Formats: sequence, C-alpha cells, structure tokens
Amino acid sequence: MGGNIIVTGVTSGIGLGLSTALLEKDCTILGIGRDISKLQRQINLESNKQFFFESFDLSDLGGIEELINNFISAHGKIDGFVHCAGIEETIPLSMYKVDKVRRIYEINVFAAIELLRIVSKKKNSNDGASFIFLSSVMGALGQSGKVGYCSTKAAILGMVKASAIELAKRKIRVNAVLPGIVTTPLTEKLFSELSEENISRIKDMHPLGIGEVGDITPVITFLLSNQSRWITGQSLTVDGGYSIQ
Ligand SMILES: NC(=O)c1ccc[n+]([C@@H]2O[C@H](COP(=O)([O-])OP(=O)(O)OC[C@H]3O[C@@H](n4cnc5c(N)ncnc54)[C@H](OP(=O)(O)O)[C@@H]3O)[C@@H](O)[C@H]2O)c1
Repeated sequence: MGGNIIVTGVTSGIGLGLSTALLEKDCTILGIGRDISKLQRQINLESNKQFFFESFDLSDLGGIEELINNFISAHGKIDGFVHCAGIEETIPLSMYKVDKVRRIYEINVFAAIELLRIVSKKKNSNDGASFIFLSSVMGALGQSGKVGYCSTKAAILGMVKASAIELAKRKIRVNAVLPGIVTTPLTEKLFSELSEENISRIKDMHPLGIGEVGDITPVITFLLSNQSRWITGQSLTVDGGYSIQ
C-alpha cells in the first residue's frame, strides 16, 4: 500500500495495532500520542525508520497545525489519516459537569475536526486520500451514563457525512468505523469500574463475543486502501453482532 499516513492514539489499543499493520504495508507514519513508553514496548523506534512519533496532547488544538506541517515538509503530502485517539468516560446525568464533558469533546470531536481541517487542505493531502474516524456503536445506540461519550461518537458520524460530500471533488474519502467492545486498555479501564455480572452481560450482548484489535485494523487498512475507492461518508459497524439484536 505505502503512502504517508497520520495515526492518532498510536501508543495504545487500536491505534497501536493499526500502526504495526501499516508498517508491514510499507507506509510512512506520523504517530501521535502522549506516553512514548507504552509505544516502545511494542514498536522498536530505532529500527523502524518509517515511523515518526510525536508526543503531543491533542487538547492543545492550536499546536496541531505546526506538528502536521513539520511532517509534511519532511515527508510530503498525506495519503491517509486515522483518528484513533479517544477517551471514554461514564458520567451519569446526576454527576454531569460541563467541564468533564468538554474534556471528552476536546479529544473525540474538536481535535478530530481540527485535524480534518488541516489535513484536507490541498497543499497538505493528495487527491484520493482517505480519512477514517473511530466512532463507536455507542455513536448510533444509547447506553446509561454515556450522554457525553455517546454524543461525541454521534458527532463524528455527522462530521464524516458532511466532509465526505465537501471533499468528494478531490476524490478524498471520509468514513467512520464503529467498533463494539474490543479488548484494549480503554475497555480494561471500563471493566474495572463494573461488577462481574455487568461485564458478563456486556460480553453476552456480542453474539460473536467481544472483539480483538485485530478484528478492527483490517477494516481500517481496507478503508485506507484504493480497494475501497467508491466508499465514502459511511458508518461501518464492526461489533460482533452487538447492534443487530
Ligand atoms: N476499545 C473499544 O472497545 C472501543 C469501542 C468503540 C470505540 N472505540 C474507540 O476507538 C478509539 C481507540 O480506542 P482504544 O480502545 O484503542 O483506546 P485506548 O487503548 O485507551 O487508546 C487511546 C489512545 O488515545 C490517546 N489519547 C487519549 N487522550 C489523548 C490526548 N489528550 N492527546 C493525545 N492522545 C490522546 C492515548 O494516548 P496516551 O495514552 O499516550 O495518552 C492512546 O494512544 C477511541 O476513539 C475509542 O472511543 C473503542
């Protein structure tokens, strides 16, 4: 496949698994995350000359453009971008504080739109590029205590459809992937807050069982590739059957 790909959330879970898969496909990667030590346990940064890691807090929206510009000056225009960085929190309405919800929006939505704005500039991306955003089945379905998280993931779906229309004239495609529960540090944190009974109830809600990172990354690499060149503005659910019940 090759090409210059930006991946956020590369230090953990889906973003980390995706980066490993993209390195095997000869891509040059700008990987964004914060905690390099988590990344170093999985990817040898010394020997992987096509992987460029930037430790950066995406809530610093004003600093994103310089980061992207520096990579493009050194390596050329972008062919693909995947926003895997995200935070998940349970905040029942009784504990709702606008600042807590704003923090989820900053990473899941505002950073996503800022990255999209910058990467979609003609000077920054090649025609035919592919942009993918991690939403969630929670963006299409509801769950108790998840007003903040569900609404950020639903916002992604609207952003994807609107930008897909706007960018189609350059054959740039924009799609969302909606995973069900996949085993990552994010879900380990979620499960640590739940009773055993609730955990097995959630597992039982996935007819094919809960997923692995490797169940999601091939879908993303397909969407990045030219094989999906006629797919845009879509919400692709990958959830072991969670949403069909
Ligand atoms: N796992 C699931 O079951 C599941 C289901 C549906 C949707 N999703 C979505 O899929 C995406 C990836 O999930 P995951 O399970 O792989 O999560 P994860 O293992 O918790 O990884 C999240 C990543 O986001 C990065 N991140 C968080 N806050 C950041 C910030 N302020 N600045 C820069 N990077 C930041 C983290 O970097 P650092 O740790 O280095 O800060 C980490 O690399 C998320 O959008 C999530 O909502 C996941």
